Amino acid sequence: MIIRTALFVCLACGWNTGVLAEAMGDGIYKGDTESRLDALARIQPGLGVVMHEIGYRATAAYNAANGGNWGLAQYELKEMLEAQEVGEATRPQHAQMLKAVERVNFPPVLDAVANKDLDEFNQQFASMVEACNACHTALGHAFIKYRLPTEATAGGLDFNLKTDPAHVEGKEK
Ligand code: HEC
Repeated sequence: MIIRTALFVCLACGWNTGVLAEAMGDGIYKGDTESRLDALARIQPGLGVVMHEIGYRATAAYNAANGGNWGLAQYELKEMLEAQEVGEATRPQHAQMLKAVERVNFPPVLDAVANKDLDEFNQQFASMVEACNACHTALGHAFIKYRLPTEATAGGLDFNLKTDPAHVEGKEK
């Protein structure tokens, strides 16, 4: 505690700032392009942030499909894939596993949405979740087990609005 306080005082009074700057780099505004890029790369969202979004959107997609809001289900699934792309870029060592789920497990779920086939959706969604959790276990995160939502909640969205899966990305009004 005493040491920490002393360190804080030293930093606060400006002593040692050179050492600190060297350890942390010059941030995103100063230095050469490479060190600024490194600083930018270090603060990009990793899987922790991306998965938070994916988990939220998976819950919303499931609830939306089960409430008859097929447009919202379709939208959330597409946004999940976009979030995944961020993870593939920032954690390339895991890109292969993320892409495998995208290639194998997503299309049948999206097809079920396009056909508004709830039984098929629930079956395919459950298989997708198994693949999600297999990756958690494979990467030493067996304690992270995504499970199907038991309540229709997420962000105050209306899951019972009856809509068609007809949203086309990039055609926003
Ligand atoms: C590349 C393998 C991989 C795949 C595929 C994957 N995850 Fe994850 N997931 C992780 C890792 C790793 C973490 C822990 C993040 C960290 O290390 O900070 C995680 C964390 C999570 C979390 C916890 C987020 C939090 O902080 O509360 C949820 C929820 C989640 N994943 C849901 C899913 C869902 C849903 C899918 C499938 C659509 C999925 N994941 C697919 C690797 C994966």
